[in-house]
Amino acid sequence: MQFFNHFLREKGVSADIRSLLYHVARAVKYINFSLRAGNTQQLTTQNASGESQLKLDVLADQIITNELQKSELAHIIASEEQEKVRKFAAPRGKYGVSFDPLDGSSLVDTNLAIGSIFGIWDCGESFIGTTGRKNLVASCYAVYGPRVTFVIAIKNKGTHEFELNDVGEFTVTRENIQLKPDSKYFAPGNLRAGKGNARYLQLIQEWILEGRTLRYSGGMVPDLNHILCKEEGIFSYPHDQKYPQGKLRLLFECAPFAFLFAEAGGSALDQEGLPILDIKVKEIHQRTSIFIGSKNEVEKAIKILK
Ligand code: AHG
Ligand code: MN
Ligand code: MN
Repeated sequence: MQFFNHFLREKGVSADIRSLLYHVARAVKYINFSLRAGNTQQLTTQNASGESQLKLDVLADQIITNELQKSELAHIIASEEQEKVRKFAAPRGKYGVSFDPLDGSSLVDTNLAIGSIFGIWDCGESFIGTTGRKNLVASCYAVYGPRVTFVIAIKNKGTHEFELNDVGEFTVTRENIQLKPDSKYFAPGNLRAGKGNARYLQLIQEWILEGRTLRYSGGMVPDLNHILCKEEGIFSYPHDQKYPQGKLRLLFECAPFAFLFAEAGGSALDQEGLPILDIKVKEIHQRTSIFIGSKNEVEKAIKILK
């Protein structure tokens, strides 16, 4: 059994990134406490994208913000729950951290798994103009399910899974996750797009006729976590009339996951075939379509869609 800090040190992860990840992991622990304490109430407020908020969305945002501020390494932070970037004096470093404090809020009342997503950027004073490829140095997510797991990718140091034990420590459960290029699993999001997009409909039909196995919960975190744990699969969320750019956000959801999947030998493209990691950040709440998972599956899907 190996502990989180020890593992990162052995991998040669820099002191800055270890420290930031330590604060992120603490935030994850506190969010988990709040969740287990039954803070699932709906609020009447809306977030920056006009989506209704849960008490837990706001709480998770505050918990993460406090921890990042304490790290003294996060100079700018961007949250799905906040309209604007917040700036801190960061005497120990100059990182940017983007996060979706609670992914899958609409699933909380049903007791399905939900999560938190984080991207750590070496980006100086602004997220604007950055790309995941150039500026992301680490990313991670937590799954609040029957167990709490925490999956981290560090640039050129792979993707690894940890589990929260009963004394509040994270220990390594999977080292160097690597995705197979092909897969029998599919997780097709936004099937509504099939109404106006015959090619998406065709893709789904092909997946069905090939006898593939559906694994889809409606939460991006557990759906993508399934792919990483089984080491194969594809998740899709195309754009449509309601979401002309796609629904999922580049900074808070798609770029961090694209980085985690790239470190695991997977791939993430938008509907036009552009690597998610090469999309330039133009505004912090920017959205994108996404096809992510086993390399060959993602490429085949885009070929059908283009
Ligand atoms: P969030 O709860 O942070 O707003 O994100 C929800 C996301 C994601 O988890 C999921 O894949 C997607 O929304 C599902 O969208 P639909 O409800 O349109 O299917
Ligand atoms: Mn989300
Ligand atoms: Mn969210």
